[in-house]
Amino acid sequence: MTTSHTPWSPESARALLVEIDEPGPVLVALQTLQAAFGYVHSDSIPIVADVFNVSRAEVYGVLTFYSDLRTTPPLDVEVRICMGEACQAVGARSLRADADALIGPSCDVQNVFCLGNCALGPAAVVNDRMIGRADASTLRDAVMATGAGA
Ligand code: FES
Repeated sequence: MTTSHTPWSPESARALLVEIDEPGPVLVALQTLQAAFGYVHSDSIPIVADVFNVSRAEVYGVLTFYSDLRTTPPLDVEVRICMGEACQAVGARSLRADADALIGPSCDVQNVFCLGNCALGPAAVVNDRMIGRADASTLRDAVMATGAGA
């Protein structure tokens, strides 16, 4: 990824959490931790539960419900391929199969459902770059442009 994150530690996680003063604190807390560290470390669950006086089960439920929250450190390149109906109608399944063959181990390839770019499907995102009418070639080029190689 092009952004760098702070290495996770229980102390830095707790310091971030005690600053949060918004409604819906569990989701906001998890988003805050992910923004700071790039992911939500599993040891953050009891810290969030303690700071916001909720159960660990509630924190875990929120963490596992939202697909944008990740529990592992991000790889160099994040590739998201839309598997929504409009994109599937114009080749998303084939693109997904190609992606697995084309993209190297430094890339995290995920299925998502609608990137809001239905008119230009199949749609994909490489890190933060949207790609319309994506095919194997444009996907590989976008990964190469990140400097990570494919
Ligand atoms: S269905 Fe793929 S961008 Fe909407």
